[in-house]
Amino acid sequence: LPILLAALAFGYLLGSIPFGLVLTRLAGFGDVRSIGSGNIGATNVLRTGNKKLAAATLLLDMLKGTAAVLVTVHWGLDAALAAGFAAFIGHLYPVWLGFKGGKGVATYFGVLLGLAWQGALVFALVWLAVAFTTRYSSLAALVAAIVVPIALYLFGFRDITLLFTVMSLIVFIKHRANISRLLDGTEGKIGAKG
Ligand code: G3P
Repeated sequence: LPILLAALAFGYLLGSIPFGLVLTRLAGFGDVRSIGSGNIGATNVLRTGNKKLAAATLLLDMLKGTAAVLVTVHWGLDAALAAGFAAFIGHLYPVWLGFKGGKGVATYFGVLLGLAWQGALVFALVWLAVAFTTRYSSLAALVAAIVVPIALYLFGFRDITLLFTVMSLIVFIKHRANISRLLDGTEGKIGAKG
């Protein structure tokens, strides 16, 4: 139990670092929460018009999930799952931002990369295919979130299928506003400023 608690705490602390917010501020763009969707993720950082900043946000938000898993996996799979889930939750509900964080897509991908690269490959291919055809980051994430748990189950990663099913459900809940905008036809496309 102390190991699981340590894994949870470590994952949460890592996951709660709001890289998008910190980087956009450091680069002099002000508060990313005041532009576009108001989200702190890479998709919204891209709405500053700075691609490098968005790429750095994507990479760091992803790597905090991967790091949470890879650092704790030496304590056992349960610890790695706890740390990965906590990193995802930390990104969504960071204490530093009054528990108002991001939507978890990059961190979900990073945790998946640390636990099953085959699943991460499926995520990346699905995300890229939907993003390139529709230009909607949110839709790409939502489709990937449906496909990944099914792929994990079919690939035989039964010990992590439930975790990613739960995380996918949370991704859907966090994208409620995006889903309404997609249905309205008012969702912002990738790279469009707003
Ligand atoms: O990763 C978040 C993405 O799916 C949606 O971002 O800023 O368009 O709400 P945003």
